[in-house]
Formats: sequence, structure tokens, C-alpha cells
Amino acid sequence: MSDIQFSSDLLPQHIAVIMDGNGRWAKQRGKPRIYGHRMAVKSVRETISTASRLGIKAITLFAFSSENWKRPEEEVNVLMDLFMTVLTREVKKLHKNNLRLQIIGDKTRFSPALQKKIAAAEALTEANTGTVINVAANYGGKWDITEAVKQVAQQVSEGQLQPQDITEATISQHLSMADLPDVDLMIRTSGECRISNFMLWQMAYAELYFTDLFWPEFDEQAMLDAIAWFINRERRFGCTSEQLQSLMIQ
Ligand code: IPE
Ligand code: IPE
Ligand code: MG
Repeated sequence: MSDIQFSSDLLPQHIAVIMDGNGRWAKQRGKPRIYGHRMAVKSVRETISTASRLGIKAITLFAFSSENWKRPEEEVNVLMDLFMTVLTREVKKLHKNNLRLQIIGDKTRFSPALQKKIAAAEALTEANTGTVINVAANYGGKWDITEAVKQVAQQVSEGQLQPQDITEATISQHLSMADLPDVDLMIRTSGECRISNFMLWQMAYAELYFTDLFWPEFDEQAMLDAIAWFINRERRFGCTSEQLQSLMIQ
């Protein structure tokens, strides 16, 4: 384990990760894509334990997008089986480490057995106070915003809310992870520089970190590198650099 320490008030509160490149990593080794998915589990474990050790408030891992159903049926089936196996195998460990697990996304498309497993894992870890681990599965940023808008429209149609009273906060309150801070740092592996319909609203002001490492190669050191990079960014939120510096002097 690395002994690098970061001052906790400089750390990102919420990290989002697009875990990409499993297939290419496997192909480079002359193996089928699913080998890459299986080997990816180790990187997930290492990322979670690093986030927990640093005291990060929340981490959201993109495991399966609403667009990934378009993949060959065999690959989708392997991913679903893997999800089920990992949930069964790892949830007790997460609970023992005081971590809270939440699955975000449209769960209705999963098999009843998987939905049951998810509900049990969420219930078991619900009261835990350590890092919140969100796994985004059958998740899409546009889906998330659409669902929020539907709920707000429902309130309007029932007369509980006037259209002119809708604010950004109204939408935020109906999104997945409404109880968590917005994403500060987004990490994507595999060299791709796109968001692929991840958390569009919650990442509005995130710092975006791209690494060429494939996801199965992403380890504790790679995560610490991303966090060190984040700490050196100047987050201006629309202000000028000079304004921020004068605020710091006051
Ligand atoms: C990410 O790796 C995992 C999922 C999207 C489920 P990929 O499977 O996208 O791997 P590449 O990008 O094809 O190499
Ligand atoms: C994004 O990866 C989704 C996940 C990591 C789960 P993809 O590999 O599906 O993204 P695109 O299609 O290349 O943008
Ligand atoms: Mg990919």
C-alpha cells in the first residue's frame, strides 16, 4: 500500500470513473473480450479500497451503460453473470468495511434474481457511514434527466408545483444520487476522451482526467496519480484566477 497522504480538504468529494478498455486489453493479450471483463474486477476492488482509505465521500463506477445492450448477446450475458457473481462474493466485504453500496440506473431491465440481489445488497449496507460506492448499471445520463423531468411534471400536473417555481435544485433533487455532492473528478481509462452519456448533469463542473491505461491496468498508483492531478487544478467555477487568489488572501 502506498504511504502517500493528501490533505483531506483538497480531496475530491465525489469521483466518477468510466472503466473503459477491458476488451482492447484482452485482445492485446490474444484473449477474448470477456477475459478483460473478468480481470477488471481486481481494478474495481483496488479503486474502492483506495477511495475508502483516503476517506472519499462517494465514488461512482460506470459498469454498464444503457447503450451497452447493443453488444453481442454473449458478451451481455457474461457481464450480467459477472455482476451477479461479484455482488454475491463482495458485498459482505463491503459491509464489513462500513461501505455503502448503491446501484444506479434502470434496474427494471435486469433479471428478477439480479434485482433481488441488488435490493438485498443495498439494504444490507444502507446504514454504513463510510465511502458510498455507486455502481452505474443500465445507466444513462439522458435517462437520469428524463426520469427527473417526469417526476417534476407529475408534481406540476397534480398542482403541487408551479412551472415558474422550477429551479435547478428541483431537477437535482430528482436525479440519481440527489443526496450526494456533484462529481468533482471524472476519470476515464483507455485513452478515449468522451463522456459516453455518463452523469451529464452531475458532472457539469467536474475536472476531466483521461489516462491511456486500460481499465484492468488501473491500480492504486494510477488512482493516486489522478487525485494528485486533481489537487493541482484550479477550479474557477466561472470566476477569474485573480478573483480566486484574492479570495484566498482574505
Ligand atoms: C469497458 O470496457 C467495460 C464495459 C463497457 C462493460 P469495454 O468492454 O468497453 O472495452 P473496449 O473499450 O472495447 O476495449
Ligand atoms: C462506456 O464505455 C460505458 C462503460 C464503461 C460502462 P463504452 O466502451 O461503452 O463507451 P463507448 O461506446 O466507446 O463510447
Ligand atoms: Mg469501451
